[in-house]
Amino acid sequence: MGHRMAICVALLWVCLVTLALLTKHTSHAIDVAVLPVDPPANIKITDPGHLGHLSIEWSQPSSLQNLTDCVIRYQLRFYNTYTGRWRSLRTTRHSYEAQFDLEKPIQVRMLTLAKGACTNQSEVLGEEVEFVHTPDHTGVAGSRIRDFRCVYFNKEYMDCMWQSGSVDTPHSKHSLFYWHREMQETSECPEYILSPEVRRGCRFPREALLEFSEFNICVNGSSAAGALEPAFFSLEVQNQVKPALVSDLQVLGEDGLVQVQWSPPAGHVPEHCLEYELEGTTESRDGSKLQWINVTEETTLDFPWGGESERKCFRIRSKVNGYCADEGHWSDWSQSECFPEIKVEKGIHKQWDALSLAGMLVIVVTAVLTLCFMLWLLRKMWMNRKEKKYNFYTLYQEKVQKAIPPILSPVCH
Ligand SMILES: *[C@@H]1O[C@H](CO)[C@@H](O)[C@H](O)[C@H]1NC(C)=O
Ligand SMILES: *[C@@H]1O[C@H](CO)[C@@H](O)[C@H](O)[C@H]1NC(C)=O
Ligand SMILES: *[C@@H]1O[C@H](CO)[C@@H](O)[C@H](O)[C@H]1NC(C)=O
Repeated sequence: MGHRMAICVALLWVCLVTLALLTKHTSHAIDVAVLPVDPPANIKITDPGHLGHLSIEWSQPSSLQNLTDCVIRYQLRFYNTYTGRWRSLRTTRHSYEAQFDLEKPIQVRMLTLAKGACTNQSEVLGEEVEFVHTPDHTGVAGSRIRDFRCVYFNKEYMDCMWQSGSVDTPHSKHSLFYWHREMQETSECPEYILSPEVRRGCRFPREALLEFSEFNICVNGSSAAGALEPAFFSLEVQNQVKPALVSDLQVLGEDGLVQVQWSPPAGHVPEHCLEYELEGTTESRDGSKLQWINVTEETTLDFPWGGESERKCFRIRSKVNGYCADEGHWSDWSQSECFPEIKVEKGIHKQWDALSLAGMLVIVVTAVLTLCFMLWLLRKMWMNRKEKKYNFYTLYQEKVQKAIPPILSPVCH
């Protein structure tokens, strides 16, 4: 009995809630019906030739034009091909500029929002419309360049390198164009890097670069078979930095400690922008090695030293840290420095290792030849002696025979 009651009450409650929700929805629907909030009109995407920096433009829907006391806003969503996510924003303006990858379709979704006396003070969202624009860039299939990579060396110059496309196109010649927001229009690469006669990269002097801004690049070209498929890139130059080598690594030992010191590489990368990776190796007398890594923003580190029975070696490299850039390239490793500087036992072995195979061969061959020569000498001497002995013996026999026969003859015969 009690159970049935409970079920009935529950059902009734569900019915009431549903009814309430439906009523609410209906009243809202009436609001919208009173004022149809149409999507923005005349949406268009214009390309000013800035290699992917496009402008999206639209106008107010005519149905909302004569309204007073009404705030009209637009919601714009577009697919960011670099992050792989939709980006969303709301604005009262009628245009917006954004960076797109011109090798991919451009997807934009828009709707109108109205709020004010016209909507009885509630915000009303209109219907969303989608706009897709596919840039047409034609070229010989498979001729798009590959393995594009830029490195901004110690903030002195930036080299961008590439490989030619998967399809071999005869007499092909690549061209690179770039743009950033302080340029009126695109410029061609200031200095091509040739390898050996073919364009394989571009060197930008520091003055041509702009940090913390889109830096757009297009590599296209021509060939006997036709135009090459263009490749588009958008990067931020501060994220391509590769610091110079740390050249003054010092390892000192005192009071049971090994102190490692270095100074930031000279150049345009500010000291506070660098982080370091210190690789340490402890070699024990028994030949075992232990390796570890320290990541630090300091320029000195101390380690306990286990005394004469061990030797510690270090090398270091640096990179721009997270305060100054989102990413970067590691510098090359510095030379290795050790404490104590030379390990005697290992030193001899190292010298042996260093001896080239050729050197070893020369020694072996010389030794063998010397041995052969000595053997030959010995043999010759022995032969000489034997010959002399033989000669002497025959001479002796002759003499004896001459002398003895008269005495022995009677006995024998
Ligand atoms: C808005 O007003 C203009 C003239 O003031 C008129 O020509 C137009 O038809 C009106 N638009 C709407 C949607 O009422
Ligand atoms: C506007 O909203 C108020 C309460 O918020 C309501 O009383 C009124 O009926 C609404 N007017 C219209 C036209 O929907
Ligand atoms: C390469 O791109 C630039 C910049 O967009 C353009 O001016 C040039 O005509 C293109 N070259 C070829 C061969 O397509």
